[in-house]
Amino acid sequence: MYNKGTIIPGLIIFVLMVTFPLWFNAFSTASTVPKVELPPGGEKECVAPAAEMRANHMVMLNEWRDDVLRNGNRNTVTVAGKEYRRGLQMACMECHSNKEKFCDSCHVYTSVKPYCWDCHLTPTLAATKKETL
Ligand code: HEC
Ligand code: HEC
Ligand code: HEC
Repeated sequence: MYNKGTIIPGLIIFVLMVTFPLWFNAFSTASTVPKVELPPGGEKECVAPAAEMRANHMVMLNEWRDDVLRNGNRNTVTVAGKEYRRGLQMACMECHSNKEKFCDSCHVYTSVKPYCWDCHLTPTLAATKKETL
């Protein structure tokens, strides 16, 4: 004999459990990727396509540093017809001038703490230094 009283609720619970990942993702905020602030200066392009930057900017920064400091290669990159000197402060931060709302919004989310800012200045910090010089 079938027992309707337990089969129907049992089926409902089963369906809810199987589809858990679907509705959990739709309703939770845990999977929300941070929204980064694009350059306030209105620039439209990065030094490489956005997907490539997202995946490889840390590698690129190391390559730039080694090339500039170890190989003495102080050359420039051209983005949308404008030249930028290769560097963390000199290229990246000229466009992404709000470190807090750009770099940090991802790094806080992913718990990455680049040590670069122990020495390099963020635009905010550089601005406060200029006044005292
Ligand atoms: C000429 C201005 C400019 C320079 C210089 C620049 N960027 Fe960008 N960057 C942009 C713009 C504009 C976008 C958004 C591009 C898009 O969405 O197609 C972007 C996108 C990115 C993204 C992807 C963000 C996302 O949408 O998830 C990362 C990461 C990034 N840049 C890091 C860097 C780093 C690191 C440097 C220095 C090596 C750098 N950028 C130099 C303008 C610049
Ligand atoms: C779209 C999100 C995103 C943005 C925007 C972003 N980063 Fe990152 N960054 C990451 C992630 C994720 C990692 C860690 C990657 C890993 O560990 O493989 C990382 C790692 C790094 C590292 C290496 C740190 C380490 O300890 O290995 C450096 C340096 C770095 N980012 C610099 C920057 C700078 C400078 C900016 C702003 C110009 C920036 N990033 C913007 C997501 C982002
Ligand atoms: C101990 C201090 C210190 C730390 C930490 C540091 N840097 Fe530097 N960095 C320097 C100095 C000094 C220079 C040389 C500046 C010059 O001669 O133009 C430099 C130069 C560079 C350059 C070459 C172009 C430029 O901006 O002058 C890049 C790119 C760079 N650093 C990236 C990074 C990144 C990315 C990190 C973090 C992963 C980092 N640095 C951490 C001190 C530091």
